[in-house]
Amino acid sequence: MSNPHEASSPHERVLAPADWTTGPVADLYSSYVAAAALSAAQELGLLDELAEQGKTSYGNGDHPDLDDGVVRTILRALHWAGVVVIEEDGPVLTGPRFAEAYAARGYFYWLVKGCGELFSIAPQVAKTENRVGDFYRRDMRAVAIGSRIIGEEEVERLFDQVLADRPPRKVADLGCGSGQRLIRIAGNHPEASGVGVDIARASVQLASESVADAGLADRITIHRGNVLELDPSPAFADVDTITCVFMGHDFWPYDSCVATLRALRAAFPRAERLLLCDVVRTTELPGPDTTVFTLGFEGVHALMGDYLPTLDEWRQAFTESGWECRTIHPTVTPPNGHFFELVPSAG
Ligand SMILES: C[S@@+](CC[C@H](N)C(=O)[O-])C[C@H]1O[C@@H](n2cnc3c(N)ncnc32)[C@H](O)[C@@H]1O
Repeated sequence: MSNPHEASSPHERVLAPADWTTGPVADLYSSYVAAAALSAAQELGLLDELAEQGKTSYGNGDHPDLDDGVVRTILRALHWAGVVVIEEDGPVLTGPRFAEAYAARGYFYWLVKGCGELFSIAPQVAKTENRVGDFYRRDMRAVAIGSRIIGEEEVERLFDQVLADRPPRKVADLGCGSGQRLIRIAGNHPEASGVGVDIARASVQLASESVADAGLADRITIHRGNVLELDPSPAFADVDTITCVFMGHDFWPYDSCVATLRALRAAFPRAERLLLCDVVRTTELPGPDTTVFTLGFEGVHALMGDYLPTLDEWRQAFTESGWECRTIHPTVTPPNGHFFELVPSAG
């Protein structure tokens, strides 16, 4: 007969403090702090400094405008994570995980600075009665900068290739974020002009500043607007190429997506192609092979109540809305990303 006082599940097992004050659960705790430190180091320029010079000072020695204790705290968390190595009485050097962490910095910045508050208010937004009106906040400048870094490698190279094969005359970038894509396209194609549309004030401001700083205000204009409600406009009349990166999921759910894709054909009557790139929803449970970004991206959109489509759902929406998908390029960065080359269907 079993003893009713004997622990019958791991949950009931009597734990010694040493079972959890170090080890995997303690690491989970410290990972949260290290993720926040990575995001802060990105914004403060410490990561770029380490990437360029291989070192920084332990404290505010190189940054008199920053608080000494805060800089040390950030660097200590990064030391714990192996991103930097704090030498005794010496500089802080890049650590064994620096290269990988630097490559992933956009994902951390997007998550922590851009969307971090959503996770801390998850219990509040879980209650259906609270999910009305503006029930959450995100830092859209950080979202735009994080997205720019996330797309910098593979996605922008795909754009370079596709646009080099058939140079654009005028590009409309939907959900233009930082404006970086239009600036890059204008640099690669000196004859091309561009128009960016974004709904967030912070993105419109950032994109407008970036365009002006690049000296391209005569070729690129930025407009505040809702891509889901675009009407034909003189600024769109001669657009031959529409681009849309990391915001296509905002077209959804399905009926709204089909309506938006159809409306784009009317708003951009001379568009010859739509180059749409987005991350799709995974269908398997998370496990040891879960990629960076996946839990954060899917979690943030669930908290906001935004529907994320799968690849098959995208395909169906293209067909129904009058866009023919000519090519799909899957991306490794971001994980689960797909770059769709679409042309208006005949008729
Ligand atoms: C994840 S960011 C991507 C930014 C940029 N496309 C890039 O590749 O870096 C998504 C952007 O889409 C914008 N956005 C979301 N919904 C929108 C809508 N309905 N109309 C216009 N912009 C929208 C957001 O404000 C944000 O700047």
